[in-house]
Amino acid sequence: MARFYVTTPIYYVNAVPHVGHAYTTTAADVLRRWHSLNGQAGFLLTGTDEHGQKVLEAANARGLSPRAHVDELSEPFKALLPVLDIEATDFIRTTERRHTEVVQAVLTWLKERGDLYTADYEGWYSTSSERFWTEKDLVDGKCPESGTAVEWITEKNWFFKMSKYADRLRAWIDEHPDFIRPESRRNEVLGYLRKEVGDLCISRPKSRMAWGIEFPFDPEYVVYVWFDALLNYITARGYHPDPAHRAADFSESWPADLQLVGKDILTTHAVYWSTMLFALGLEPARCLFAHGWWTVEGNKMSKSVGNVVDPHLLVESYGVDAVRYFLMREIAFGSDGDFSHQAFLLRYNADLANDLGNLAHRALTMTRKWLGSQTPALDAPTEGDAALEALAATTLAEVSRHYDDHQPSKALEALWVLVSAGNKYIDTQQPWALNREGRSERLAGVMRRCLEVCRIAAALLAPVCPGKAQELAEKLGQTGVSLDRCGTLDGLVAGTPVEPGQPLFPRLQELPAAVTAALGALAPAEAAPTPAPKKKKKKSKSKAPLPEGTIGIEDFGKVQLRAGRVLAAEAHPKADRLLVLSVDVGEERPRSIVAGIASRYRPDELVGRTVVVVANLAPARLRGITSEGMVLAAGAKEVLGLVSPEGDVPPGTVIR
Ligand code: ME8
Ligand code: MG
Repeated sequence: MARFYVTTPIYYVNAVPHVGHAYTTTAADVLRRWHSLNGQAGFLLTGTDEHGQKVLEAANARGLSPRAHVDELSEPFKALLPVLDIEATDFIRTTERRHTEVVQAVLTWLKERGDLYTADYEGWYSTSSERFWTEKDLVDGKCPESGTAVEWITEKNWFFKMSKYADRLRAWIDEHPDFIRPESRRNEVLGYLRKEVGDLCISRPKSRMAWGIEFPFDPEYVVYVWFDALLNYITARGYHPDPAHRAADFSESWPADLQLVGKDILTTHAVYWSTMLFALGLEPARCLFAHGWWTVEGNKMSKSVGNVVDPHLLVESYGVDAVRYFLMREIAFGSDGDFSHQAFLLRYNADLANDLGNLAHRALTMTRKWLGSQTPALDAPTEGDAALEALAATTLAEVSRHYDDHQPSKALEALWVLVSAGNKYIDTQQPWALNREGRSERLAGVMRRCLEVCRIAAALLAPVCPGKAQELAEKLGQTGVSLDRCGTLDGLVAGTPVEPGQPLFPRLQELPAAVTAALGALAPAEAAPTPAPKKKKKKSKSKAPLPEGTIGIEDFGKVQLRAGRVLAAEAHPKADRLLVLSVDVGEERPRSIVAGIASRYRPDELVGRTVVVVANLAPARLRGITSEGMVLAAGAKEVLGLVSPEGDVPPGTVIR
């Protein structure tokens, strides 16, 4: 049964989509289009993840009800699809009833099967990552994912028996070497699974966070957002745990052929999702592909920095097909990469305007000039012709292999070998000389082969640049693109009229005006004149990019360090590692600071000491006691010693 089911992550509606979201969905569309071109029924599912803490916080920040907020913010994700020429078969929102009701049915079903239980949960909870961490997961006492403070929480919760399926998952990964890709990510997951896999806490008490799907059998709780969200991949296809309520064709819809995710959410998919599927008696997708991360002009894309790349700006400035091409070609699928307008300009001019654009333009205009705009007849092939023909066959095989292998960048690279060979063929065959010498049969044969290369290029490029591929096919007198005869140089019909028209990809001399305006808006000096349609704080972007792994002085400046004097210290009542300090940092009242230094210091040793305090750290509860800051100490895991300023420094002194 020929079908291809590809999914993207469902995106959080906590901000409008940027080029990172556009990337994953574009890749999904490219691969779907490839399989459609091969005669398979393509199904692309995308959508929005609308529950949970992050979304609730975004709604609160806008002063909207979560419902009003998600209704509004799922729109830009949907609206972006046609802009990027993405044909999604379905767009699911996790607040839709077709989803929420099935999530509830799944919970009931799992509970009846004994895969859910309640227990007191204790752990370090990160609000920004919305998950619990174990002590050894923490990095410097903070959330290893977001780097923000964690708090110790004890509460009754519902658990999914993930551990029960861990061995099955290990075996599955072993037996299906192409399940998790790329290879390096597969190893990462295997490494994760080498440790003991615990059960998954899948509930949130409404008292703490009420924006979610209610537990059908425990109305004081909502479902953990990831447990809810991951199910979208099957709820959208009519899954229901009770076969009587399940879409009749569900067994043809699942397993998906390909699930695309960014590397940031590989674990949740590889571990949580796979074990959830096992519990439901389903198999994981055939392939879970984790692609790499885009930075922008060398920096992490971030709303607070204001360097978020708006896909609309790109499409308006460069055209949708060029944007799709750049995203697919610039970085190998699976690796990280950098987005910069200069890099865009270079690649656009080199690959699209020069290589492909020139090939098409030369082939078509020479055919018009010397052959009356009619597709000429082939002549008896020479050795050079045979080489070009052989290359066409290899190109088809290579390009197909790479698309089938979910490697669009390699597919394009392989296609460009033929495109370059086409240009070289024109240079060596010198049709202008053939014309001058009146060798009309040979001229016809040569031009015909050039047009054939264009036909093949259009077809093999079509998944990435559907619009331009169609345009090129029409210039060649075809109604559309097809993979028929793409391995040979004889797919056109002699006598068919051709039409050069406008160049496919006109050369860009400089950055488009809209881009310069947007970049200019980032420069503080020119901030005033550009009207900003969307509220975006854009600054510090026109500077040279920072070397990888470094931060700018403004980032460091965000951390307020102050000298503090320890007034009192005592053991934490609930944790052996922790001490509770009362620290004077020059404010009206001393701060209460919980520090993990009990292994190194006795409380009485600390009184009177001057320490360095991170003064603007958001308060966090550590095992039931609120900590209003952090004291600096040397030592990554084990505390070696507190950091103290030299000399007599009064409490509250700024440290910089
Ligand atoms: O994680 N480079 O949603 P999200 C490459 N709702 N890809 C990027 C990117 C970048 N700089 N930024 C974002 C969530 N992405 C959950 C998913 S799925 C059941 C739930 C892409 O809005 C990439 O695909 O944070 C990444 O995995 C995804 O957006 C994260 O989107
Ligand atoms: Mg994210």
